[in-house]
Amino acid sequence: MTQNQLAYNSGVQLNHSGVGQNYVSWTSKFNLSKNPFKDTLDTDLFFRTRQHEEALVKIRIGIEDQHALLLLAGASGTGKTIVSQVVLKALDPAFFEPVFVFVHPGMGKGALLTAILSELGVEKIARYASKQLQLLQEKALALHANGKRLVVVIDEAHFLKADALHILRTLSNLETESEKLVTVLLVAEDILRRRLNSPYYASLRSRIMFSMRLLNLTFEETEQYIKYRLLKCKAPAHLIEEDSYHVIHHFSKGVPREINRLLYNAFMETIAADRFSISPEILRNVSHKFAFFHGKN
Ligand SMILES: Nc1ncnc2c1ncn2[C@@H]1O[C@H](COP(=O)(O)OP(=O)(O)O)[C@@H](O)[C@H]1O
Ligand SMILES: [Mg+2]
Repeated sequence: MTQNQLAYNSGVQLNHSGVGQNYVSWTSKFNLSKNPFKDTLDTDLFFRTRQHEEALVKIRIGIEDQHALLLLAGASGTGKTIVSQVVLKALDPAFFEPVFVFVHPGMGKGALLTAILSELGVEKIARYASKQLQLLQEKALALHANGKRLVVVIDEAHFLKADALHILRTLSNLETESEKLVTVLLVAEDILRRRLNSPYYASLRSRIMFSMRLLNLTFEETEQYIKYRLLKCKAPAHLIEEDSYHVIHHFSKGVPREINRLLYNAFMETIAADRFSISPEILRNVSHKFAFFHGKN
């Protein structure tokens, strides 16, 4: 399908730069208020499966009960980041100071501490980790004096180097006489769980109070997840044909990011075929195109 065919079938007009003139979104063809399967962290579209809800509750309790370290693990695309965003959004800013750090591959302790401090608005950041830790402790104590607790979410934590993981143990020791000053939520792919199983990390591991793991959605959850997102985007009934759900679950394996990708592409395919609902046949076509990415041809 060329860009022009897509534009023609969807009623979307493109100029040569590909940017719409008199722009009509493809979503309006399907009477949707917005794209239900956009791969963004739209917490408004957050669907509370039992396991996502359980993770939310444990993280909230972990923060409220002032545990130093929590771990949220799971395969890529299972919803770890969106869960952490929902938690952060729900924290009362009068009592909590949330900080979100996104780890890049090979991030060491200096870069991690610098990232946390700069998120906290500290401008002059020392070069040495010991000094950085001291700055962080001062900042956490100052927040504490104002009745606030520091909550640090470290996303993609499986990319942290060993020295950065070890510094977390030191972070988890920041405390006053009666309470911990910081809660760190590690958000990571399962490989981090395996790494932490080594005796080398025993003392860090023993400080993790709650370790949660998100799994792929079951067939029922996959169907509910899709229907919830469609409902939130004001979709008309039967936009996805009923016998499509098994096909979606089969190809996506119940991974939310894969469900989103499959359905977004299925909408494009539906537009190209000038149809108005997503059918098993369209889903199979899309999946065959994806097979390339999975190394099947
Ligand atoms: N429970 C859920 N409700 C709504 N959307 C979800 C849910 N879980 C995952 N998603 C969506 O799936 C995609 C991948 O989720 P993300 O949190 O980025 O996964 P991870 O961090 O585990 O790789 C995102 O677009 C996210 O919005
Ligand atoms: Mg993520």
